Amino acid sequence: MKKSIPVSNSFCPQTLFVYGTYNSDGKPDFGLFCWVSYYWGETLGVMAAICEDKRTRDNIRANGVFSMGLVTEELLSLADYFGGKSGYDADKLDIPAGIEKGRILHVPVLEQCPWTFELEVDKTFRDNGADIYLCKIRNVLADEALCDETAAAEEKLSILRPARTVGGTYFSWDGRALGKWGEPRNQL
Ligand SMILES: Cc1cc2nc3c(=O)[nH]c(=O)nc-3n(C[C@H](O)[C@H](O)[C@H](O)COP(=O)(O)O)c2cc1C
Repeated sequence: MKKSIPVSNSFCPQTLFVYGTYNSDGKPDFGLFCWVSYYWGETLGVMAAICEDKRTRDNIRANGVFSMGLVTEELLSLADYFGGKSGYDADKLDIPAGIEKGRILHVPVLEQCPWTFELEVDKTFRDNGADIYLCKIRNVLADEALCDETAAAEEKLSILRPARTVGGTYFSWDGRALGKWGEPRNQL
């Protein structure tokens, strides 16, 4: 028996990503995002939605490029911090986070992140305060462990342990609750 309930996406798990951009003064900024999916144009592309004013959106509008790094359990505290602190606060990046440059695009990338897309915005749709970007994947930076053709996907994912979110709580790859939004950052 099903019930019609208020609109939400509770119980639809979402993969988490950290977006990296450069501010106009050249300093890096990172934010946490989950409204992401994929499409097929000439090649595989990424769809991403950003709502409300935030530094990441200003930077994407200005530069048309960003990095999108998969959040693993190891990266969750840092990612949760990036999701809770505004990039308009000048001290946001005054924390220890190893940062390198993208190989193809001028985007900052988290050194610790095992899977990062370098993305170039191809088209932008604006609707009621939301920006929806269709992006070309210009490069994928992957840890060597993920490039081992002999290892099974299950084995690689158990090393990678991507984090997910469902209804305001973070979950591990194997389904354990890892804290509510705002909690993992306390372990930084
Ligand atoms: C779990 C989680 C997921 C989020 N996903 C999105 C998203 O997909 N789109 C969005 O506009 N904001 C999202 N946010 C909010 C941004 O991460 C937040 O506004 C952040 O402060 C932006 O940082 P910035 O100002 O440096 O860009 C999310 C926050 C959390 C905690």
